[in-house]
Amino acid sequence: MNAYTQVLFKNRRPNETVLLPEYEKNGGYQGLRAAMKMQPAEVCELVKDSGLRGRGGAGFPTGIKWSFFPADQPGDKYLVCNGDEMEPGTYKDRQLLLADPHQLVEGMAIASYALQAQIGYVFLRYAYEDCFQRLEQAIEEAVEAGYLGENILGSGFDFELHVHGSAGRYILGEETSQLNGLEGRRPNPRSKPPFPAQRGLFGRPTNVNNVETLATVPHILTHGTTWFQDLALNPESAGTKLFGLSGHLNRTECYELPLGITLREVVEDFGGGVREGKKFKACLPGGASTPYLTTDHLDVMMDFNPLEEVESRLGTAGVTVFNEDTCMVAVTRNLNQFFARESCGWCTPCRDGLSTISWLLDRIEFGQATNDDLAMLKDQVKNIKGRSFCALAEGAMGPVEALLRLFEHEIIDHIKQGGCPFAC
Ligand SMILES: Cc1cc2nc3c(=O)[nH]c(=O)nc-3n(C[C@H](O)[C@H](O)[C@H](O)COP(=O)(O)O)c2cc1C
Ligand code: SF4
Repeated sequence: MNAYTQVLFKNRRPNETVLLPEYEKNGGYQGLRAAMKMQPAEVCELVKDSGLRGRGGAGFPTGIKWSFFPADQPGDKYLVCNGDEMEPGTYKDRQLLLADPHQLVEGMAIASYALQAQIGYVFLRYAYEDCFQRLEQAIEEAVEAGYLGENILGSGFDFELHVHGSAGRYILGEETSQLNGLEGRRPNPRSKPPFPAQRGLFGRPTNVNNVETLATVPHILTHGTTWFQDLALNPESAGTKLFGLSGHLNRTECYELPLGITLREVVEDFGGGVREGKKFKACLPGGASTPYLTTDHLDVMMDFNPLEEVESRLGTAGVTVFNEDTCMVAVTRNLNQFFARESCGWCTPCRDGLSTISWLLDRIEFGQATNDDLAMLKDQVKNIKGRSFCALAEGAMGPVEALLRLFEHEIIDHIKQGGCPFAC
């Protein structure tokens, strides 16, 4: 069914986890062996040349991030893997960890060597107990085989890796809140600068990367940068991406697909089209904080830059599809309730702004709104954009702005009819 090259899902089988012997038989830990023959800075350079961009949502180039890291600074340095994955519509890291967790362990061993970080944490979503067990098992196997712990593969380099369960709030996915959470503090975001690379966990240099980002690294070390770049259909991009499909599709599964595949191919060929023969209306392309795409965007490439060019984002590539009968006011109201509830309350534009937007969307959806409410909604968005302390509130504005840009006529219909035209 999926004819595209499988990298992260190459060994994946339903309801099974790849253990060390199978992982090694299929080329596992060759990337770590290759890395250990290079200088740490050369590993960073290779990852930079590969064009790998962060898979956690923002798409920052991984090698560039690593090159800012003070690897030569003496003393403790940390590597943190962000497995919080609480963005609604996003479940790809879970699929990766359940199927083949050694990829992450190997990726973290390589990254820690490149950054000369001696201690690592995987910060896992509180509900992912199944991933927790499988990851602990993979870590145990890797320690026994000499891929983790002291004197890795006889290199003289030491790296210890631990798994930490989240307390279970969305804000813990934001990297500086996550560091506070790991320290046992209240998880408000920290101000930047200083960035985690300068002063992170316990005040020491810390690098934070997503599960999928780190799990991709061993394959780049094993197969090289040209191979990695050629995986993408977009010549300006590199690699594959895990797309987690959900919503009104016939097949709501997680697929590994090349970056640059079109939205149409994702929806029709992999999602099996919209359920019950209905028409596609819109989708969130990459999780709850990404601006909607519509039928006008079906031929746009699902990739970082092409989606920014149409005022959206690839985000986590958690694609949630809505059919022609969906009320976009109701969808946005639902998403905004999540963000308002998950606001950490630290800054006023987010704490008060998101709940005001929720109140306005309630009024529109339930037929109590006037044109003044629409004007106030627009005003609230302006008050939040660029004025919040962290990216949670900025992300929350993605769907609200897209509602105003693409579906303002639906808001006006609600106001005119005194209720929801979709009767939901
Ligand atoms: C509210 C919020 C939630 C986030 N949740 C996650 C998450 O669950 N996983 C993740 O990798 N990044 C998340 N991020 C992004 C992280 O702050 C950070 O950019 C990312 O972990 C860096 O990894 P990458 O460069 O490999 O993508 C979140 C950001 C915000 C603002
Ligand atoms: S934007 Fe929201 S989540 Fe971020 S610091 Fe402000 S109140 Fe907290």
